[in-house]
Amino acid sequence: LAQVDVDISQIAAGQSITAKWRGKPIFIRQRTPKEIEEGKAVDLSALKDPIARNANLPGDAPATDVNRAAEGQEQWLVMVGVCTHLGCVPLGQSGDYDGWYCPCHGSHYDTAGRIRKGPAPENMAVPLYTFPNPTTVRIG
Ligand code: FES
Repeated sequence: LAQVDVDISQIAAGQSITAKWRGKPIFIRQRTPKEIEEGKAVDLSALKDPIARNANLPGDAPATDVNRAAEGQEQWLVMVGVCTHLGCVPLGQSGDYDGWYCPCHGSHYDTAGRIRKGPAPENMAVPLYTFPNPTTVRIG
């Protein structure tokens, strides 16, 4: 399927689900205010990958917290749940930056899914998506 609709009405703040799109896991997380704050507090110069990697934005958009999250709904983070090192699926709410941790070779991602430590070269990818209504994410 080119597009997949996912019901997000049951995802509370601090929770996430993993959907499937084109055979890949898609992490959909409703971030807590603390997680958003942490994401915003990061100086861009501290990022290993300074590019947003967000398919909804121009290819050179910087990896600010807001550029990683949903436009106008920054609590939502939608990402391809594949480590950019060698493709393992990272674990949520883990690692040194309260985001995701890839146990395969030790990559740490922050609360905006940006690579902060370990061998992965890029932030986790943000796929094309929209909100056709407030409780649905349409991926693709
Ligand atoms: Fe994730 Fe190697 S595949 S760290």
